[in-house]
Amino acid sequence: MNPTMLAAILMIPFLFLLLARRKVISQKEALLPSPPRLPFIGNLHQLGSIPHRSLYKLSKQHGPLMLLHLGSVRTLVVSCPKIVEEVIRNNDLVFATRPMSKLMDVLSYDKNDIAFAQYGESWRQRKKIATTHLLSSQKVKSLSFDRVEEVPLLLENVVDAASRGNGVICLTEILNSYVTNVITRMVLGSWISKEKKTILSKLSHDSSPLFYEVSFEDFSPNLKWLDVLSGLDRKIESYKKNWDALFEDIIKNHANESKEENGKNNTYFIGTLLDLQKDSSLGSTITNEHIRGLTMDMIIAGIDTTFATLDWCMTELIRNPEVMKKVKEELRKVAQGEDMISEELLGQLSYMKVFIKEVIRLHPPAPLLLPRESLQECQIQGYNIPKKTRLVINAWAFGRDESYWEAPEQFKPERFFDSTVDYKGKDFYFIPFGVGRRICPGMDFSMAIIEIALANLLHRFDWNLPSGITIEDMDMDEGGGVIAFRKQKLELVPTASMVN
Ligand code: HEM
Repeated sequence: MNPTMLAAILMIPFLFLLLARRKVISQKEALLPSPPRLPFIGNLHQLGSIPHRSLYKLSKQHGPLMLLHLGSVRTLVVSCPKIVEEVIRNNDLVFATRPMSKLMDVLSYDKNDIAFAQYGESWRQRKKIATTHLLSSQKVKSLSFDRVEEVPLLLENVVDAASRGNGVICLTEILNSYVTNVITRMVLGSWISKEKKTILSKLSHDSSPLFYEVSFEDFSPNLKWLDVLSGLDRKIESYKKNWDALFEDIIKNHANESKEENGKNNTYFIGTLLDLQKDSSLGSTITNEHIRGLTMDMIIAGIDTTFATLDWCMTELIRNPEVMKKVKEELRKVAQGEDMISEELLGQLSYMKVFIKEVIRLHPPAPLLLPRESLQECQIQGYNIPKKTRLVINAWAFGRDESYWEAPEQFKPERFFDSTVDYKGKDFYFIPFGVGRRICPGMDFSMAIIEIALANLLHRFDWNLPSGITIEDMDMDEGGGVIAFRKQKLELVPTASMVN
């Protein structure tokens, strides 16, 4: 028998084995619970206007591990902490990347940022720069002066707005401008004009709905014309152009500030990054594009999340007068007649800290975290998950899981007393800042901004709903988008606090 024939005969059982294995794998895949889908759009129509709530409902029908098809994108949705624990313990590296698409390209400043960029050595270096040089607790402390300087302005804004609005103010707008001011100042420097801040805040807000835009080009390059027709290409182009123009101006003006402020600007992120760019001992190269990508990240990832949290905090205080009373009592004891609460005093506000934890348990600002994608085939719960499967984690659902939280719908900060449960990524049922390699590096940074504002707003004023409005009238629904802002703006009546 000729040797080729012999080899072919010997290969036959092997091929059978391979085919049999493929069949088992695809059967196992087919078993993954999955809601029925429509041609072409798959399950996209089931996301609804508030995706984390729609996915939560779907998970009640189809289970905590579901496969959805968002257009042509295979998407695994996890709604149970145990499965996330398994993913992170066994496959964190496999899911360490973000999906790439036309829109992610824009949000990642052509893959030059941290939050939206793909996993790899270059991403690792940028994340290290952010955690050691920009967002470390030491750096957060060093920017204390800039935070504290913004607080009197916040309080003045409340007084001004109340005098203009017959006592009623839109606190949501005031909080938004406070967070935008502090973050742009810490990232870019204090010279940024009011107009520029408004543009930055708008660009940051505009990024959130971009996540849910469908790009036809991602389905097939032949369908690019549909993106032109739908106006998506124009929207992306203008978004990019606005960022580019802004950065051009920021980098140019930074040089001027350097002279004016005698090097003080180096404490700000942009100054630190420009300094690191010249530092040959760093061991990695920072390009101008990296500086733009990192700066854009801090704005996009920092402003809306921090502002949404502060807005939910004030909302929950109004809805829970008993909690408000306890926070204020603690403040009165700690402040001891001081006019302002300083950052040094924040460490003593233990009730306020558990109150904030309770707020982000029920209202995680990024309820579905940020999407990830598998770099290679892997197994979850015994199912075979192919390469390039998207992973969505419903952290909002975790905060409502009765197996982990007693009476989860009740607002009860005391549940965190005598408990070591924290949001730092170790307790898989409480992950508002994400988990694993892609965890948020901005936790300390955002908490410092939230705590100092909250403490002073409550120390200085008593807060009530406008006359005729009751707690029952408060709509607790979120608006759509990646960041879960409260849909209704918070309108309140501040009066000078009598305890001072
Ligand atoms: C209450 C405030 C905040 C919340 C709730 C929050 C939440 C998150 C979440 C859920 C992720 C995705 C984690 C994952 O995929 O597992 C993330 C990533 C990120 N956040 Fe935050 N964040 C907040 C504030 C900030 C601030 C103030 C900054 C910086 C100024 C920041 C910078 C980032 C960056 C750079 C990433 C990307 C990390 C990566 O992909 O490796 N965040 N954040």
